[in-house]
Amino acid sequence: MARILMVASEAAPFAKTGGLADVVGALPRALAELGHEVAVVMPRYGNIPTADMTHAWGNLIAYLGRHAISADIWTKQERGVTFFFVDTPWLYDRFGYYGHADDHLRFGNLCLNALNVIRFLWRPDVVHLHDWQSALVAPYLKTRFQMDPTFQGIRIVYTIHNLEHQGRLGKALFPELGLDSWLMQMDFMEYFGDVNLMKGGIVFADAITTVSPRYAAEIQTPEFGFGLDGFLRAYSGKLRGILNGVDYREWDPSIDTHLAAPYSSEDLAGKRDCKLRLLRKLGLPEENMDRPVLGIVSRMARQKGFDILSEVAWELMNDDVCLTVLGSGEKRYEDLFRNLETAFPGRAATFFGFNDTLAHEIEAGSDIFLMPSLFEPCGLNQIYSLRYGTIPVVRATGGLDDTVDGETGFKFWGYWPPDFLLAVRAALAEYKNPEAWQARMRRAMSRDFSWASSARQYSGLYRQLLGR
Ligand code: ADP
Ligand code: GLC
Repeated sequence: MARILMVASEAAPFAKTGGLADVVGALPRALAELGHEVAVVMPRYGNIPTADMTHAWGNLIAYLGRHAISADIWTKQERGVTFFFVDTPWLYDRFGYYGHADDHLRFGNLCLNALNVIRFLWRPDVVHLHDWQSALVAPYLKTRFQMDPTFQGIRIVYTIHNLEHQGRLGKALFPELGLDSWLMQMDFMEYFGDVNLMKGGIVFADAITTVSPRYAAEIQTPEFGFGLDGFLRAYSGKLRGILNGVDYREWDPSIDTHLAAPYSSEDLAGKRDCKLRLLRKLGLPEENMDRPVLGIVSRMARQKGFDILSEVAWELMNDDVCLTVLGSGEKRYEDLFRNLETAFPGRAATFFGFNDTLAHEIEAGSDIFLMPSLFEPCGLNQIYSLRYGTIPVVRATGGLDDTVDGETGFKFWGYWPPDFLLAVRAALAEYKNPEAWQARMRRAMSRDFSWASSARQYSGLYRQLLGR
């Protein structure tokens, strides 16, 4: 068994903006259950209290160009996993986890302190990095600290959760990363004149993974490569897809404490109570109990397919459906849902913001879940939907294609509004036949995407890298 240190910018239950947090919250625990020792290093954002933590180390200095940044390390055990929190309040105690002008310092400090954790507190066999925020650990280990005996033999796994966000910085910031200038070449971290942090992870990792097999193939094509497809093709020998799992302790309608009533494939009755509570909560009239309720829980970003949804939304609403939405993000998409509420009063409601309970209630209370993504590395909500018997209508891309099939959901292929509309209409037609619909719900609910099988694949990868 191995010692695995994960480095990430978010992990449930401490900090979450999307699926990355679900994965870093659940994968370590699944690996621990297989017998590995697992730790996670993440920032201590302002909303994470230290009251129940132990102060593990004080005044560590990270040298980033002309900056010398001080940090404390706090630690806590959470469900069999050791968490280390890097505490530098002036960097992390802010509104919003990302999008600050000094993100290179915020995440450079995270990465250098991950190395401090290794040096002083917890030496792993493998460091497992996630997305651009932790990518710098790879070039630090393989260049700046290459000769340091502390780090000899540590293997690096780099997981890409979303290729759209690469950590791109103006080249004037490169000296503030504390890396040698030769890395500012096209074969390393230079990207169209800028710095690209993700490229550092890709080049220096011993293995690269992404979160579904389909997405692993897609990102090597110009359509999905966000400018890095050629670069990834060059490293395809060390790239593979491992599908995310989901945590059924959090996402299962038979034990979900957020719900009005529990239900399961043996006894679906509670789902109607969940539907009623959802309608009431969103201020929608009870007459919608007789309509199919469509659900969406999503970041409101281009990735999620809102451009094609907006083309057909009016036609779709005219099919006498009810729409419930939870999300926030780009104004143009938020406006789409505001306009739908005005145009179809009593049949469309959106909650703008982040709300974990409502996310569970929409999964349980709606009949059909919409995910027409432009691209989707894995996607978790469609997998939650399957377990909640809320039939997903998805575009066949990335993890959506790998997790939904014709038996459990409805798929369409082209990123093309009429195809999306056709797929939703196929679902609506079947919904009118309760027998066929319930059979589909039961098939969906019986599919198993628990972490155990994904964790075993990561485990195999670590073993392979360690030659064990
Ligand atoms: P992504 O990471 O691209 O946003 P995923 O489907 O992998 O997409 O994961 C999204 C996660 O974030 C899910 O757990 C989902 O329930 C949650 N989520 C997304 N938007 C919201 C929101 N507005 N409120 C609560 N949870 C949300
Ligand atoms: C990213 C992707 C999403 C994936 C999640 C967790 O946020 O957009 O598809 O499920 O990471 O890996």
